[in-house]
Amino acid sequence: MKPRQILVTSALPYANGAIHLGHLVEYIQTDIWVRFQKLSGHECYYVCADDTHGTAIMLRAEQEGISPEALIARVHGEHSRDFAGFHVAFDNYHSTHSPETRALAEEIYAKLKAAGLIEVRTIEQFYDPVKEMFLPDRFIKGECPKCAARDQYGDSCEVCGAAYAPTELIQPHSAVSGAVPVLRESEHYFFRLSDQRCQDFLRGYTRGEGRLQSEAANKLQEWLGAPHENKLTDWDISRDAPYFGFEIPGDDGHGTGKYFYVWLDAPIGYMGSFKNLCARKGLDFDAYWGKDSSAELYHFIGKDILYFHALFWPAELAHAGYRTPTKIFAHGFLTVDGQKMSKSRGTFITAESYLEQGLDPEWLRYYYAAKLNGSIEDIDLNLEDFVARVNSDLIGKYLNIASRCAGFIAKRFAGELADVEAEPLIETLRDGNLHQRVAQAYEERDFSRALREIMAFADQANKYVNDHKPWELAKLPGREAELHTVCSLALTLFKRLTALLAPVLPRLAEQVESFLNVPGFTWADTHTTLPVGHKINDYKHLMTRIEAKQIEALVAANRESLAPTAAVANAHSQQRHAQHQQASEDRVQQSSWEPFITIDDFSRIDLRIARIAAAEQVEGAEKLLRLTLELGGEPGPEIRTVFAGIKSAYDPAALVGRLTVMVANLAPRKMKFGLSEGMVLAASGNDGHGIFLLSPDSGAQPGMRVK
Ligand code: 2FM
Ligand code: ZN
Repeated sequence: MKPRQILVTSALPYANGAIHLGHLVEYIQTDIWVRFQKLSGHECYYVCADDTHGTAIMLRAEQEGISPEALIARVHGEHSRDFAGFHVAFDNYHSTHSPETRALAEEIYAKLKAAGLIEVRTIEQFYDPVKEMFLPDRFIKGECPKCAARDQYGDSCEVCGAAYAPTELIQPHSAVSGAVPVLRESEHYFFRLSDQRCQDFLRGYTRGEGRLQSEAANKLQEWLGAPHENKLTDWDISRDAPYFGFEIPGDDGHGTGKYFYVWLDAPIGYMGSFKNLCARKGLDFDAYWGKDSSAELYHFIGKDILYFHALFWPAELAHAGYRTPTKIFAHGFLTVDGQKMSKSRGTFITAESYLEQGLDPEWLRYYYAAKLNGSIEDIDLNLEDFVARVNSDLIGKYLNIASRCAGFIAKRFAGELADVEAEPLIETLRDGNLHQRVAQAYEERDFSRALREIMAFADQANKYVNDHKPWELAKLPGREAELHTVCSLALTLFKRLTALLAPVLPRLAEQVESFLNVPGFTWADTHTTLPVGHKINDYKHLMTRIEAKQIEALVAANRESLAPTAAVANAHSQQRHAQHQQASEDRVQQSSWEPFITIDDFSRIDLRIARIAAAEQVEGAEKLLRLTLELGGEPGPEIRTVFAGIKSAYDPAALVGRLTVMVANLAPRKMKFGLSEGMVLAASGNDGHGIFLLSPDSGAQPGMRVK
């Protein structure tokens, strides 16, 4: 058999957040698949990198008072540590902020430009006049135009699910400075995905044999539309300064002052990481990426970034003279106990805390593998089932075989194995094709099926031990030979089981290699027998049971209360960037609470008691009342006009004379109906229903500070 040449990637995690159990679904899935290919003797490389560019990373560094370079260097260390902790064995873990990725991004861009696929257009975008920067949609917040829920992002509402343009938000404000954003024109570079060449290419490409899972292929069909339709729109690949990324080169050899959008250079980071590996290992880059490459290229991704990987990326590669991905493997999201991971419930668990709590990474690898079937369905980490499953399969079935037999070989037979070739069970197994069925399941990423097959085999091995009862044979005179055979056969079965499980449990497999005194496992070990006279080492404890209280402690350690300590607050904001919420550069994990702010952040908000001196209907406004607020002060009270979205809940006449709380230092905002000079505070439910204006206790006076 000629070894296949395979290059595999996982999505590049953003360099401003911690790796958590949601991320690990993908890295563990990919790692198992890669280990299986390597064990099978193929030439397989697994590369990844940190995704280091974009507004979010730039702002994050600024907030921490460090340079973006310092931030991404630190996070690179943290990510590498976490992946190694879960035995995710990349051949290279690089960074998109690298000379390789820069050179490739510039080259690909130049080729697309030469092919007439880059266009410059002027667009209107929200601009933060205080921070002096253009705002990505996720950095604009306001009231949802559909359901009026407050504090929603500029692209979609987390309450009613509506998608909209940031310009549709009611009372938009910049999440960076709080200022009212203004529309400003700017020149942007577009990749012309709507070009007929891209359309034609993508229709053919996405139909490629096994290229996409069926659910993904259907999505692609929907995006591409019917053959006569042209549903693809051009892709905005540039961002204005200030931005952390690579500057787009101009024709004159100077920079354009524009930057490549993070999603332009992210997938190119796959190539950059591999190029870096090639230089270190003397590999041929073109053999894997050249137009005529016969190597296989696979991208493992979350289902939410399919658009980038199945449309933009292959179209870019094809028109820049490179090969395109062989297959794209998407997976679903992780839920914990049937719900989205949540910080308040303690189920938003970081890789670091899992390991710090002393939990075995292979428990999680095993559990994820048992749940992964190669489809796009979400997978659930049920914490109770996790404990039960790992204890029953790994401790109760698999390890039980070795722990019941190893001692006799050591004590009674000087560690040497008997001949088992002629045993009837070995004969039966020879006729089966278990290792081939398991291999096929691994290849298809149906790890759940692979483990079912393997555990059925473990049941068979346990039955053999139970039927022959070595602990009784050991007590009976004259049954030495039988005892020797039974234990030797059990250990040969244990070796086969371990080799079958090795892609999932690599660390345990290594320990078993030294216990059984065999060199590194290969796939042949899944169906061969240990030779007669082979000497094994003493059996040492290989894995402990999970105790339910360990899981309780883990959840407690990850539960964030409303009164965080400084350390927790820091961890919290590090976790803010999580996977698989939204296909945007700054997908944010949804949680019940806003990220923590410091007391200094809070004291920047000047909250004051205000008296509602007048309240009126606003002609033409559906939701607003015009409030005239008195703030107290000398010589006369300061008067503010505020438009408040409380019309549905209050009769204006009933408000006059009432005290409430207002934000007194909110930048004035020009609205359709006039200038709004602040904001009153009101409570409302997540469903957007009910609005309850705040009032102070009696005795408070207009102008008093609320803190
Ligand atoms: O969605 C994300 O987390 C991105 N950082 C994934 C990038 S994958 C690839 F294209 F680089
Ligand atoms: Zn809404």
